[in-house]
Amino acid sequence: MSLGLFSLLALSVVMGAGTLFRIAGWRSKAPSIHFSDTPASVKIRQPDGSIATESLQNLVETKCPGLRSKFSPVWWLFNGHLQTLYCVLGDFSKIDRLQYHRRLIRLLDGGTLGLDFAPADSSKIKDDAPIIVVLHGLTGGSYESYVRAILAPACRAVEDGGLGYRGVVVNFRGCAGTPVTAPQLYSAGHTGDIRQALVFISQIYPRAPLLGLGFSLGANVLTRYLAQEGVQSRLSSGCALGCPWALSRNNESLRNSFIGRIYSKAMATNLINLVRRNLDGLSKFPDHLIAQHIPTVLNLKGALLDEFDENFTRIAGGAPPDFPFATAQDYYKWGSSHDVLSDIRVPFLAIGAADDPVVQHIPMDGGGNAMTVMALTAAGGHLGWFQAGPNGSIERWIKAPVMQWMSLTGDVLALPSSSAPHVHIEDGYYREEGRENGCKEIEGGGLVEGDSWEGRNLRGL
Ligand SMILES: *[C@@H]1O[C@H](CO)[C@@H](O)[C@H](O)[C@H]1NC(C)=O
Ligand SMILES: *[C@@H]1O[C@H](CO)[C@@H](O)[C@H](O)[C@H]1NC(C)=O
Ligand SMILES: *[C@@H]1O[C@H](CO)[C@@H](O)[C@H](O)[C@H]1NC(C)=O
Repeated sequence: MSLGLFSLLALSVVMGAGTLFRIAGWRSKAPSIHFSDTPASVKIRQPDGSIATESLQNLVETKCPGLRSKFSPVWWLFNGHLQTLYCVLGDFSKIDRLQYHRRLIRLLDGGTLGLDFAPADSSKIKDDAPIIVVLHGLTGGSYESYVRAILAPACRAVEDGGLGYRGVVVNFRGCAGTPVTAPQLYSAGHTGDIRQALVFISQIYPRAPLLGLGFSLGANVLTRYLAQEGVQSRLSSGCALGCPWALSRNNESLRNSFIGRIYSKAMATNLINLVRRNLDGLSKFPDHLIAQHIPTVLNLKGALLDEFDENFTRIAGGAPPDFPFATAQDYYKWGSSHDVLSDIRVPFLAIGAADDPVVQHIPMDGGGNAMTVMALTAAGGHLGWFQAGPNGSIERWIKAPVMQWMSLTGDVLALPSSSAPHVHIEDGYYREEGRENGCKEIEGGGLVEGDSWEGRNLRGL
C-alpha cells in the first residue's frame, strides 16, 4: 500500500477530529431517491405464472426497502475518506469467502477475458437461475471485497438464506491474472469487451436472465453498454455503484485539491503496476503504437491519474476506431456516462455517496429516463458504506438494497423477449449478426480462490 494513502489516512483522521462532534447531526440519514416524474411500467411475473404490469417506482418502493433505510456510518469511519480507505486497507480476506470457476475467452482481436463464475460448483443451480454479471473497479477483479460482499450471499442456496443465483465477474484484460494477449487494455469507456462477455454468457446459459452490476469504473462501462444497446441489451437490468459519471469533472477536482492529488496518485500507481505486471504480454507487440509508450509509463514515478491517461489510457484503453485518442481530454469526453442515461431501456438503479472523494458530479435527474432510479446517501465514501453490525462487527449498508434489487429484477420482473442480435458460430467463434466481433472459449481456466490473488493489495479504488 502506498505511502500516500497512509498519509491520507492520518490526514483525514486529524481533519475529521473536528467533525466527530458534529456527526450526530447527519448520522442516520435516509438516502435521497429520484424517480422519473413518469416512471416506467414494467412487466412482472405473478405467482400463478401470469404476467401483469406494474410501475417501476411501486416495485422499488415495496421490494427494495433497504434503499430507503438509513445509513449510519460506523463512528470511527466518520468521513468519506475513511469510508473509502477502509475498503482499500481493511482485511476482508476471511469475510464473504468465495471460490470461482474461471473460463477464459478469446476475442477476435486476440485479446483474452477471464470470466470467474460463482459458485465454483454450480451443479445444483438451475439453468434458468438469474446470473449477476459483475464489472469491477479500476484495477480490480473477482477477488475484490466489494464484489464478494454481494456475490457470496447472492450465490448461496436459498435454503441457506441466499438468492440461489449464479454470479460471473468479467475480469478486464490484464486484471486478476487474466493474461494480456493483444496490444490493448481497458478503460472506463470501452464497452466492446463486456459486449463479448455477454454474448458468451448468453450462449452457455440461454435461459437465464442476466443482471448487470458495476462498481466504480465498471459501473461506468455498464452504464455506457446499457445506453449503447438500448432495447438490444443482453442485460435485463443494471445496478451501478460509485459510478464516476463525468470523467473530466472528477479530474478537475482531484487535480485541484491536495487530498485529491493523493487519490489520483494512488490510482495512477495501481495502473502503472498493472502495466508492469503485464509487461510480458504487452511487450509481444513491438510494432504497435502501445510499445512506444510503455517505457514512458514505467518511468512515470508519482504520476497523477490524468498523466497516466495522457500517456497510456488514451492509446491502450480500447479498440479502433475510437482509440487512440489525440488527448486524454478527448478520451474523458467520449468515455463519460452522465450524458447517456437517457438511452437506457432496462430498469437501472444507481447508488452513490455525496461524500465520495473521487466522484464529483452525480446526474440525479437520471437523464429524465423513466427506467432510471437514482439514489444518493449523505455519507459512505467511494464504495464504502460501512456501518456498525451486530456484536461490534462492521457491515456494508449497500448489501441489502443491492440484494433486494437483484431479487426484484431476477425473480419478479418478466424477461422481455430479446431484441439482441442473433448469434451464430463461425470458425469456432460466437459471432453477433451484423457486428464485427466474436469470442470463443480457450483452455486455461479452472478453480480460482476468491481472495488469494497475488495482486490483491491493489484492491479498492
Ligand atoms: C485535469 O485537470 C487539470 C487541472 O485542471 C488540467 O490541467 C488537465 O489538463 C486535466 N487533464 C485532462 C486530461 O483533462
Ligand atoms: C506523460 O506524463 C508526464 C507526467 O508524468 C507528462 O509530463 C507528459 O506530458 C505525459 N506525456 C504525454 C504524451 O502526455
Ligand atoms: C452476538 O453475540 C451473541 C452473544 O455472544 C450471540 O448469541 C449472537 O448470535 C451474536 N449475533 C450475531 C449476529 O453474531
